[in-house]
Amino acid sequence: MTAEPLEIYLEQQDVERGLREDVRAGLTAEAKWLPPKWFYDSRGSELFEEITRLPEYYPTRAERTVLAEHASDIAALTGAKTLIELGSGSSEKTRLLLDAFTRRGGLGTFVPLDVSVSALLASTAQIAADYPGLRVRGIVGDFTRQLDRLPTGGRRLVVFLGGTIGNLLPAERVEFLSAMRTALEIGDWLLLGTDLVKDPSVIVPAYDDAAGVTAEFNRNVLRVINRELGADFDPAAFEHVALWDPDHEWIEMRLRATRPMSVRVLDLTVDFAAGEELRTEVSAKFRPAGIAAELGTAGFTVAEFWTDPDGLFGVTLARAR
Ligand code: AVJ
Repeated sequence: MTAEPLEIYLEQQDVERGLREDVRAGLTAEAKWLPPKWFYDSRGSELFEEITRLPEYYPTRAERTVLAEHASDIAALTGAKTLIELGSGSSEKTRLLLDAFTRRGGLGTFVPLDVSVSALLASTAQIAADYPGLRVRGIVGDFTRQLDRLPTGGRRLVVFLGGTIGNLLPAERVEFLSAMRTALEIGDWLLLGTDLVKDPSVIVPAYDDAAGVTAEFNRNVLRVINRELGADFDPAAFEHVALWDPDHEWIEMRLRATRPMSVRVLDLTVDFAAGEELRTEVSAKFRPAGIAAELGTAGFTVAEFWTDPDGLFGVTLARAR
């Protein structure tokens, strides 16, 4: 089957307004910040795919190991008719689930949702070609905003992989999980991938690789702002910083100005002192008890919690109650 035309719930003008609002809020703040979702234009999505293949970046491989081991369990336990993937990107690991559901039978529809049109066009076309008989409905949307637009009817399994939930701040996570629960019905399922707390000597290199791909990915947000908002950032004048915060148990990516700069963006002049840092991402790491507590508060009950043999990455299967 060919994929259905993408359903667009996020219009280009909404995207641009969101970017303008985030840039204004983040770059006029005392401690400058930008939300990580703006990394992912087509170049940013490609750089992220490259990151997932780096020797230092363990989360993708570890999560794939878990999914390969337990995909059949997930298909059998959930008996889902509809598989919805939030922040689907290339959906590469999700194929392990699609394979298991195909062996078992019964899955009718796959619904990947992502902000990146380019990533969705490529993934929906390939998946539709590779899984004949599967209905593929790609949705262009923001997983924090379009949860009320998820398809209804039939047992649903929502998968949110890669540890992307760690890119939300704790208060955003609470709001996201409760919106997720509201969007689901009792008995629907959530499969959540979370990177786990471990020695920072393992985590930090995953966000500061020797080849410098993560640094390019980080600086890409400045290129996006230059292109979309006509700003005049000099990306080469910012250096990549990855920092483990032991109190929050998250890693932060920052861009550090290597010299004083004045950047024109929107109607703003944004001054950077030499050495000043702009926070571009937090990526929280989790403990099993914390995951269960957050899901419990949102109205989910944990059914299964799996990790890879090295205990690097956790995959939780939870049910709406
Ligand atoms: C895909 C969002 C989970 O936080 O590890 C990779 C993004 N940032 N390297 C992560 C990312 C830096 C990634 N997520």
